[in-house]
Amino acid sequence: MTTTHSTTSEAFLPRPSVPSFAVIPGAQVQRALQGREKQIVELIESIYRLHGAGDSVNPPSYFLRFPDRPSDRIIALPASVGGRVLVDGLKWISSFPQNVAEGIPRASAVMILNDHDTGYPFACLESSIISATRTAGSAALAANWLSRDRPRAKRVGFFGVGLIARYIHTFLTATGWSFDELGVYDLSAASAAGFCAYLKRSGTTGHITVCDSAERLIRSSDLIVFATVAGQPHVKDVQWFAHNPLVLHISLRDLAPEILLASTNIVDDVEHCLKANTAPHLTEQLTGSRDFLSGTLDDVMAGRVTIPAERPVIFSPFGLGVLDLAVGKYVYDEVARSGELHIIDDFFHELRRYG
Ligand SMILES: NC(=O)c1ccc[n+]([C@@H]2O[C@H](COP(=O)([O-])OP(=O)(O)OC[C@H]3O[C@@H](n4cnc5c(N)ncnc54)[C@H](O)[C@@H]3O)[C@@H](O)[C@H]2O)c1
Repeated sequence: MTTTHSTTSEAFLPRPSVPSFAVIPGAQVQRALQGREKQIVELIESIYRLHGAGDSVNPPSYFLRFPDRPSDRIIALPASVGGRVLVDGLKWISSFPQNVAEGIPRASAVMILNDHDTGYPFACLESSIISATRTAGSAALAANWLSRDRPRAKRVGFFGVGLIARYIHTFLTATGWSFDELGVYDLSAASAAGFCAYLKRSGTTGHITVCDSAERLIRSSDLIVFATVAGQPHVKDVQWFAHNPLVLHISLRDLAPEILLASTNIVDDVEHCLKANTAPHLTEQLTGSRDFLSGTLDDVMAGRVTIPAERPVIFSPFGLGVLDLAVGKYVYDEVARSGELHIIDDFFHELRRYG
């Protein structure tokens, strides 16, 4: 990242130096991202294309689980992004669903960005906002690309309405979607009420309905966003999808294999998504094959896969670390440009090999 020049004659080549180390809190992250939804979706599209072209390293996510706390987990997502972003790093994100009952968000996260040239970490960022942003940006991108050969949905249904559903609604509206009907379904009446209050504050002109059943929400929506914390499939009736909706299956574990088998299935990355008991993973286990998958979002964007209008289409994104890093680097660059980086002086201290 930064370079110094040797004064010795043998080396006029720039030598890498130790980068400074910055800490970027959530307020700065939010300021850097707010109102930039279109740019973020463009960035995410470029990263999917770059990943599809092989200019990235995105090993499997590592799940830390606890035998005594089966619903909790902390996931490590290491990644390396090539192209113009050129950064390595790690997102370390916790999911503790019981937090919500205590009045704090389910997910919390930090991200470390590592310098491409020296490997030195150069920033630690609050990352729950980055994670929600890349998830919502990817959902809005998919909604756009997967709707190209069907009428654009005017009836949206939000199935599970926490923080991620809020971000997805924000990204959809900021990228040009507007809805006549907005359906809301959640096991928790408090969540449904909180989300409806957010929708009203957002200025939506559509009609908001809190549905009393999952069936009603699905049958009355042409775009359905799943963002629950369900661990096993709980939606199993193929008939509910007879009107061929576009489904953003963000929470990954709501739909039974029968639904996927009756639909066109698009993922973000095949190897990633067929893991950790996601619905595509269960479908592969049931059928012994991957034939039910049509391809990746990159395949759709590159024209290698087309989406028939006369079937439901389901997007199941596992969530790629490369997206997190690209959004994290975007935030870093914005904060650096504004001259407001909080540098931790002397963070790397033992810098002479022999003292
Ligand atoms: N695929 C990705 O890249 C990605 C990225 C981020 C988050 N996620 C997933 O998004 C989901 C939502 O995250 P969040 O932070 O908004 O969580 P949250 O806890 O804030 O909200 C989840 C909501 O779902 C509701 N719910 C749970 N089970 C339900 C069910 N069976 N039917 C209806 N409602 C139900 C809960 O009452 C709650 O209101 C999580 O599963 C998370 O893992 C996916």
